[in-house]
This record gives sequence, C-alpha cells and structure tokens, in this order.
Amino acid sequence: MSAGAPTTVPVALDRRAYDIHIGSGLIGEAGRWMRPVLKAPRAIVIADAAVAKLHLGALAAALDAAAIAHDAITVPPGEASKSFHRLEILMSDLLRRRIERSTTLVALGGGVIGDLVGFAAAIALRGIDFVQVPTTLLSQVDSSVGGKTAINTPEGKNLVGAFHQPRLVLADTDVLKTLPRREMLAGYAEVAKYGVIGDAGFFAWLETNGAKVVDGDAQALVHAVATSCRAKAKVVEADEREEGLRETLNFGHTFGHALEAETGFSDALLHGEAVGFGMVLAARLSVARGLCPAGDFDRLRAHLAGVGLPTRFADLPQNPWSAERLIDHMGRDKKVRDGRVRFVLTRGIGTAFTAADVPIAEAKAVLAGAIAERAGNA
Ligand code: GLY
Repeated sequence: MSAGAPTTVPVALDRRAYDIHIGSGLIGEAGRWMRPVLKAPRAIVIADAAVAKLHLGALAAALDAAAIAHDAITVPPGEASKSFHRLEILMSDLLRRRIERSTTLVALGGGVIGDLVGFAAAIALRGIDFVQVPTTLLSQVDSSVGGKTAINTPEGKNLVGAFHQPRLVLADTDVLKTLPRREMLAGYAEVAKYGVIGDAGFFAWLETNGAKVVDGDAQALVHAVATSCRAKAKVVEADEREEGLRETLNFGHTFGHALEAETGFSDALLHGEAVGFGMVLAARLSVARGLCPAGDFDRLRAHLAGVGLPTRFADLPQNPWSAERLIDHMGRDKKVRDGRVRFVLTRGIGTAFTAADVPIAEAKAVLAGAIAERAGNA
C-alpha cells in the first residue's frame, strides 16, 4: 500500500537524466512510475530468486495494472551470479525471448542483481534501458544510483563492466522490513559515509536518529535514503566517470577492500561492514597524518559502534590479523605504487578528499596500532 507521495531525487545528467523515487509501497505502484519512461510497454524483470519469492508477485501485479507486458527471469542469490557464466545464461535467455531495443529490463534485488542486470542492459543489442528496484539498504543508497555496472572475474571484482545509467530507480523502503538486521547495518555504513564525506549536518542527524533508521522507522528511513541518494546524485552529476570527485565515494573502501580480501570476500565480513570499519581506519590514518581532529575520529567510531557495526579488529571473527597481509592486499589491488598508496582521507566529519601519496609505512603503522588495540580501549 502506498503511504503517500514518494520523495523524488533527480539525477541531472542531460540526456541520461533520471529520477530516484523513495518511499513506502513503491513496488505496488511500479507500473504507474515506469510507464512514462518506457519506450514500449514491455519489460523483463530479472530478480534475485530469494527476493522474487517475497516481492515479484506485487511487482508483476503493478505492471499488469499499468498494461505493461512482462516476463520474469530469476537469478540465484549471491555474489557468484556476478559472473561471465551467469551473464551468458542471462543474455541467451533475453535473446531467446526476442527482446527489442525498446524493451526495458527491471532489476529486482540487491547490488548483485543491479550490477548484473545493468551490465546486461548496457550490452544487449548495444544498449537497452533498465530500471532499478533495489531491495537492500546498501543498494538503495549506493549501487543502484550512478550507473556503475559490472561483473567479477578471477582477476578481481568489478573489473568488467560499463557506465550505464538506469532510466528510473524505485527504492521501496517497505522491502527493508524483511532485511536481516546485519544487512541493514551493513547498508547503514554507506549511509553514514555520506555524512562523513560531505555533510556534517547529516552526520549529526544520524547521531540522533541512526538507531531509528536501523530499526526501520519509516520516516527516518526515507530521510536517510533520500539524503544519501541526493548526496550521491550530486557527486555523480559532477563526475559521472570517476575522474576526480567521485573517488571520495570510496571513503573507507581501500582499507575495507583489504579486509574483505583477507576474509575471502565471505560472509565473515559483509561489504558494508568492511566499509564501515574501513572508514574508521581511514579516519585514524587521517588523525595520524595530522589532518583530522581526534574528536572527529572518536565521534565516527562511537556512532558506528553504537548502532552495532564492527569498529575494532577484536570485533571481527577472523584472527590473528596482520598489517603486512592487509597491505599486501592493497598492493594486489594496484593501490600501491612506489611505496605510496592512494587513499580517501578526511579533515573531519563532512570533509573527504583524495590523497595520492600516503607512504605505505604510515598506513601499515595505523593498521598495526589498530590490531594491537585491545577491545574497549580507544
Ligand atoms: N560506489 C561508489 C560509486 O558508485 O562511485
């Protein structure tokens, strides 16, 4: 059921401009929102098989109600579906269904589905339209917005893909009610990121209201998702292809990626959890470099820990941790050059910037210090 008009965030990208609608009950109104942007009333919904069980029925009914012809394809849940293998299966399926240039794909699921379907849309018939219907907090505030699409290969994650903007994003906050708390928290780390990188006022709002967001309070959620999407839209409008400013969206990701690599990109550490802890480490490095007041680091860590995210090595399942190994992962990630690493750092809550030349020894010392720290001590 709709709970009133959604909040709309426009992404102003000239001919590739689109809207992000955020609110309660949007899947049940999907046809109404999609119809005006479709080239023809035909859509193929590609859904995460687990999400399909919960939400495909409502989406299909909404498309019927708007007289949009539709088929559905389900994809196994999990990161393994972001592969050439799955893409090939999906492309054959789409071509056998005789898609046309005017057919629109609809991605129903989290970041894996959005990335896979977005990439399929980018290359099918040399590019067709797609609509994002993200069903996790993380995908609503990050991956469904901005047009990055990709699959993984044995050489690394997201190394094969395309920039392909969706025609529309429908972020139905009701679907988050069925999201496991751990996934909600993982998405929340990306929400907090927008406060830390560019909006001290939003961070302060989260310090008061973050628990409500994580608990699924409808109004708080819409505000948090909309503010996050607005922040991301502004960055993407200024730097769609990540030639500068967009890099700041990767705050926490250099450390985070190393943590994920060390835990084998497994469920031991979810991407959002790694990013949250990575932000704490990036802030710690910023303090060590004399850039960020220690009080801002304390605020960031206290807030993330307060909502229930891991913020210390002692919180993480895998032990022992080695600074050496984590730095090695950064090297393999091609982030290390001539003894220096590229990092997004902060001058305090609300100010992030890219530093291309952080000496590797400094990053290593910060990791060693954090590993040595005992749980509960600052
Ligand atoms: N997730 C970072 C970006 O979209 O640029």
